[in-house]
Amino acid sequence: MANTILVGAQWGDEGKGKIIDVLTEQADVVVRSQGGANAGHTVRVGAKEYILHLIPSGILRRGKVCLIGNGVVINPTSLVGELDGLKQKKVNVKGRLYISDKAHLVMPYHRELEACAERIKGKNKIGTTLRGIGPAYGDKIARTGLRMADLVDTKNLEARLRTRVREANRLIKAFGGKAVPFKAVNDEYSKAARRLKPFVANTTKMLHDALAAKKEVLFEGAQGTYLDIDQGTYPFVTSSNTTSGGACTGSGMPPNKVDHVLGVIKAYTTRVGGGPFPTEDDDIGDMLHNMGREFGATTGRPRRCGWFDAVATRQAAQVNGIDQLAITNIDGLDKLPEIRVCMAYKLRGKTIDYVPTISGDIEQVKPVYETFPGWQTDTTKAKTWKDLPPKARRYLQAIAKMIDAKILIASIGPARNQTIFV
Ligand code: IMO
Ligand code: MG
Repeated sequence: MANTILVGAQWGDEGKGKIIDVLTEQADVVVRSQGGANAGHTVRVGAKEYILHLIPSGILRRGKVCLIGNGVVINPTSLVGELDGLKQKKVNVKGRLYISDKAHLVMPYHRELEACAERIKGKNKIGTTLRGIGPAYGDKIARTGLRMADLVDTKNLEARLRTRVREANRLIKAFGGKAVPFKAVNDEYSKAARRLKPFVANTTKMLHDALAAKKEVLFEGAQGTYLDIDQGTYPFVTSSNTTSGGACTGSGMPPNKVDHVLGVIKAYTTRVGGGPFPTEDDDIGDMLHNMGREFGATTGRPRRCGWFDAVATRQAAQVNGIDQLAITNIDGLDKLPEIRVCMAYKLRGKTIDYVPTISGDIEQVKPVYETFPGWQTDTTKAKTWKDLPPKARRYLQAIAKMIDAKILIASIGPARNQTIFV
């Protein structure tokens, strides 16, 4: 019985959705514990592609139970939209999807406040997904948030919404934004409340019942280590703890019941939005975009691309306690004659082996690269580790060694059968 926390070890979009889907074949319960609809987890099942934002990717495996934990921020209308999408694709969620009554709500005024904040920042904007994530977590920390428990408390909902909309509109006006009309908010949220009520539950208790029954639990991280509010490239981060500790606080999981932390990494690096990115390289970016890859699943923006960064990823392994690795998008490198890996940084002439604290310093670091020969072979049909070209195996083993973790999975395409257990 192994309970595993899956985390992104870079800047998000590491391929977590696909790996979760593969691992869910074994697991009994899949839990989301932080983030919100800023996440975009893509899963391919046969010819069908699903993009999930709030609902755990485990929902695509029949019979598996999915929990949206207390640490997630939920836009009820987005969630209803996602439920409708699954219904259309004939995925039955009844009796196997539960939403924490403690999870906070993302409100229309959060989106408006975020748009104002980004506008005011001008060229220093974070480049957020504009899903209202930051302001929703802000209200949670400021103790002015509304929770799922409030949403389904239909008797008191209208009064609560009235107060919060009034308060938020004062701020919006001060920012020069567009006030949100109370009636529209009330109509929208009461409607969503009726639809979501059957799913709302005490998921902490459900998690502990599952643990007591020796069920296997898998935590589906969203975003990545360098978007973590504490460990990431602040302020160019998201507003939650995306590292493994967040899975515990965001669900009620005790740390000593966690057996493994699985880090998902791309065989190269990508990032969406603003912020420092030491190994960014337009040539590898142009190549990947020309292959039709690396466009955001949530916003459609082209992702910034670069070489694998062993300095950042090793540090990610440390802060998360990563003992297992899933390396994805290996096939993205199939055509390259040479592949570079950043082994150290140079900052103002000094060699360093950690990610500096200040964003301005991270902007300034010069990567020290080691070059590996490319395999220039199509890997997408490999079935076993031995089927991979020797140069690809050497590259993957080298990066695993730098990170000091064991490769569990090598992924060579979006399909379930493009997955090699090492
Ligand atoms: P998944 O789960 C990649 C980025 C945004 C922006 C910053 C803050 O698919 O890996 P936010 O809207 O969260 O306040 O934006 O974080 N970001 C992501 N980047 N993958 C994600 O999720 C992301 N979620 C947020 O682009 O730079
Ligand atoms: Mg994504």
